[in-house]
Amino acid sequence: MIPRQIRILYKDHQFEQSTSLYNQPEKPVERQLSLKKPRSVIFANSKGGVGKSTLALMAGLGLATQHPSTRVELIDLDVQKTSSDSLKRFTNHRFQVLENEDFFLNSGSPNNGNLINHMGTDFPYSQDQKFIVFDSPAGNEPSRSTFLTHCDVVFVPTSVGDADVFATQKYLVALQQLFSRQKGNMEGPPPPIVILPNMIDSRDEFNELRASLSGVSAYFGKPLYYSPVFRRAFREDENDTSVATLLKHAQPYIKWMTNLILKSEALPQPPGRLFQL
Ligand SMILES: Nc1ncnc2c1ncn2[C@@H]1O[C@H](COP(=O)(O)OP(=O)(O)OP(=O)(O)O)[C@@H](O)[C@H]1O
Ligand SMILES: [Mg+2]
Repeated sequence: MIPRQIRILYKDHQFEQSTSLYNQPEKPVERQLSLKKPRSVIFANSKGGVGKSTLALMAGLGLATQHPSTRVELIDLDVQKTSSDSLKRFTNHRFQVLENEDFFLNSGSPNNGNLINHMGTDFPYSQDQKFIVFDSPAGNEPSRSTFLTHCDVVFVPTSVGDADVFATQKYLVALQQLFSRQKGNMEGPPPPIVILPNMIDSRDEFNELRASLSGVSAYFGKPLYYSPVFRRAFREDENDTSVATLLKHAQPYIKWMTNLILKSEALPQPPGRLFQL
């Protein structure tokens, strides 16, 4: 009997192996990666309800299930703890939910110094690649989150509603301002910003969203279409059916997103305009 906390990871790995789409042999992940420092990504947008936690769940479990020899830490910076509370049950040797009060200031804002130290700590197991996946709260202001400049990718999920688009535009401007202010403190170029169009209904809607953000210097990801399976992402039902269904349903998308995380250094910097991935 496989213990509950690793059952879902095991099941999904089996699924991957039995699906013809993914039957092509892949190089082991340790040979694809040159970096041994943890690779950190964040899902961030000041707008609430755009899918930050859902996508953080998909990235965290996706990295742990689809790529061998990886270790994933999920750090939830939201006091509501949607993702950390729900994902704790999947903790195993490859997936951890890290809760540490030192990551926060008394005000609830991120403790940038402690986060940056944690992100820069070498990983002791040389054969594994470590990933840190941050979920972040609505209302997050880039100016208070200098640790963002140490991430390898900043994912900005957004939906198509006017309120979401306006808030996302503002958030992207604030991110760029943070990057230019921190230029002198960064070792390399700023992290790529990848907009993730979420809850999309149709190709027309996707094109409309892309047109509204066309002036932005960022990457534009593949569409994640609206589906009720995402509504059940945080449900703890028997045999974790809801999460397993979600991972199966979204497997091509998760594969795309995790490959982007694995190879983010291959993205040119910066695009200078909206660049469709
Ligand atoms: N592609 C999708 N299709 C349908 N529903 C979705 C999709 N993505 C997310 N949702 C749903 O939208 C709601 C908001 O998602 P989520 O909690 O991930 O957003 P969030 O940005 O983390 O919100 P908050 O800012 O409140 O933390 C949830 O009910 C979630 O299930
Ligand atoms: Mg959330």
